Amino acid sequence: MLKRIHYISSFAQDLSDDEIEDIARQATKKNAEDEITGVLMAKGDVFFQIIEGPEENIDRLFTNILKDPRHEKIITLGIQIGDLKRLFPDWNMKEINLDTSTSERLQPVRAIIDAVQAQSAIIENLTEALAAAAWAELLDLTTKE
Ligand SMILES: Cc1cc2nc3c(=O)[nH]c(=O)nc-3n(C[C@H](O)[C@H](O)[C@H](O)COP(=O)(O)O)c2cc1C
Repeated sequence: MLKRIHYISSFAQDLSDDEIEDIARQATKKNAEDEITGVLMAKGDVFFQIIEGPEENIDRLFTNILKDPRHEKIITLGIQIGDLKRLFPDWNMKEINLDTSTSERLQPVRAIIDAVQAQSAIIENLTEALAAAAWAELLDLTTKE
């Protein structure tokens, strides 16, 4: 049984190329011990990562990733479990810098990141507006009592 998770997140603070490479280097070492493979891409201040491996190991890793202070606003794009074939059998964690890579083939990934970022900004604004409106209504009701 294999599990695969795709997510995007935003840097919590500025991260240099060296710091991103360090994350990938340490991940590669640890993932090899846990039979985890995948890719870690960075574009602007956004990470896009795919991790795949035994379900228990992926759950443990993702719990750690969610708590990692180097990034925030983690949005899970997809979770697959089953008799999956690995997408990245040869990479324990391949790091790709989408800002410096000139590969045209990576254009769809850039488009996904831009689309998710734009949508999440809209959703964030709407959620804030809704929360503000709901609070106003609640306070209004309270003052009438
Ligand atoms: C964007 C991002 C991707 C990461 N990917 C991995 C990964 O694939 N494998 C891994 O072991 N740690 C990864 N980490 C680091 C984990 O969040 C965490 O620091 C690490 O698993 C803790 O390991 P330790 O308990 O052995 O110190 C990533 C961190 C970030 C910010």
